[in-house]
Amino acid sequence: MKFSLILSILLPTISFSQQTAWFADAKLGIFIHWGMYATDGTSESWAFHNRTVPYPKYMSQMKGFTAQNYNPTAWAQLIKESGAKYCVITTKHHDGLALYDTKLKTAAPQKNTLWSSKYPLSTIHQTPIKKDVVAPLFQALEKEGIKKGAYYSLLDWSSNDYPGFYKDSSRYQLENDPARWQNFLTFMHGQIAEINTQLQPDLYWFDGDWEHSETEWQAAKIDSIIHHTNPNAILNGRLKSFGDYDTPEQNMPILHPDRSNWELCLTTNDNWGYRPSDTHFKSHFELLSIFTECIGMGGNLLLDIGPKADGTIPDEQIAILKEFGRWTHKHAAAIYGSIAGLPAGHYHGNSTLSKDSTTLYLFVPSPQGAILDKSNLMIPIYIKGLKNKPTSITLMGSEIQIESHEVGKISWSSVPGTLFIEVPVSAMDPMISVIEIKFKEPIQLYRGKGGFH
Ligand code: GLC
Repeated sequence: MKFSLILSILLPTISFSQQTAWFADAKLGIFIHWGMYATDGTSESWAFHNRTVPYPKYMSQMKGFTAQNYNPTAWAQLIKESGAKYCVITTKHHDGLALYDTKLKTAAPQKNTLWSSKYPLSTIHQTPIKKDVVAPLFQALEKEGIKKGAYYSLLDWSSNDYPGFYKDSSRYQLENDPARWQNFLTFMHGQIAEINTQLQPDLYWFDGDWEHSETEWQAAKIDSIIHHTNPNAILNGRLKSFGDYDTPEQNMPILHPDRSNWELCLTTNDNWGYRPSDTHFKSHFELLSIFTECIGMGGNLLLDIGPKADGTIPDEQIAILKEFGRWTHKHAAAIYGSIAGLPAGHYHGNSTLSKDSTTLYLFVPSPQGAILDKSNLMIPIYIKGLKNKPTSITLMGSEIQIESHEVGKISWSSVPGTLFIEVPVSAMDPMISVIEIKFKEPIQLYRGKGGFH
């Protein structure tokens, strides 16, 4: 009696850290960008927004979005095999196409002939799939014990009630038509409520908050819609000041992000969705190195895959997930439930610690991770946050010019990627080699918290 009384007093105050405990321990998540853009391999939503592809042509990709070989069970098994503990899928990207069963209709752009506002803009009503593709994945993930995350774009460039459309024009100004904005908010808040009841995500991954203010989005209302019925849901930090963790994108933080929990979201090549033209895949070594960077700083990696329009996952990405699986299973104790390792200056590499700090795990790039380039064995080392380009990189005591390349550089951002430098094993000093890196100007460092700003 006394015990249950104590419990009932304690329960309502379940602390934030208890809710997010699984997240901090998860370390690896798989991000899935799936949408009509996979049909022709355009960039996700941005293709029409940036006027690379006309809107009607972009939307015509819905006809080729078939999902005919979609196997959610196999997806969930592969994700499990990778060692990921959570998965985040696009329930709706900036193009407005819902992959789940939305009942809510929105006005189509005026001259639109490609989709009918008589029906919701969803895979069920506007594509040959004719089905909700998120719910079956969530069921399969649950079976595998993987936490379910819903990516949802707050902005919706297809809705005629939304001000933004093309990068250089907008439909209207909020202050001139508050009723129209309210229509949009009712629609968008309604979709979040639907996702909450239909799919009950463990995590929400909002995107696109940069187009409006916290007040304009009514972010507090969104937070309360979710937590009212789904009190343990975790929110990423892209709902202005709301949210539980920071989400630097592509670029690795040098300094710890502001919130104590954080996650780097990263593409395996240079795009989020399936684009056969993009063969610029990061190597397994580079991806695992970045993963050890993240966990070494107490964060997670949310590694993205972009399935094809028929639902098959590109071979390169299957191979990446399998390699992550091999590595994470072998080194599980150093990964799951670990905390950030040694602070900078103590070890020239990445490390983690057991929660009780009685075990230290040092990550040492092995010569096996080395690559064979021009029949020469190379050990890759890397520098984060280097703003200026080296004019030369040499191995001291030799004439050898060393190759380097930048990984994870976003073309439109000034934040540098990570410079991987390949050191030829055959020419290395038997004791300690020294790499000499020269610059035209004094060295300039990016000292930020990751992401593209
Ligand atoms: C950016 C892009 C979006 C992508 C997201 C993933 O915010 O707008 O296309 O889905 O990053 O992090």
